[in-house]
Amino acid sequence: MAYQTACQADEVWEGDMLEVDVGEHPVLLVRMEGGALHAYQGMCPHQDIPLSEGRFDGKVLMCRAHQWTFDARNGQGINPHDCQLAQYPVREENGQVLVEVEGVSPLFAHS
Ligand code: FES
Repeated sequence: MAYQTACQADEVWEGDMLEVDVGEHPVLLVRMEGGALHAYQGMCPHQDIPLSEGRFDGKVLMCRAHQWTFDARNGQGINPHDCQLAQYPVREENGQVLVEVEGVSPLFAHS
């Protein structure tokens, strides 16, 4: 298993999100209020819409298509509650964001 460079750390501002491709995987990076960085599947588990086209307020992600919402601390669905974003291991090193995508598959929910 290996971490791959996703982007420069200063490309993801606090309270902001950024979609990057890591290998073949679309990955959504979110930087929480306070600076913590998380990496999730880039596509909505509902109908494959890029989550980067939605909204992020520093705490909650909202898909633009049907307004599903997710807790950006852990990817847990808020509305509906019975869904989840797959989370990738992520770390910052020497000004770069590194993500490990191997072994993690995007999750899909009921439609
Ligand atoms: S595609 Fe994201 S909420 Fe429907």
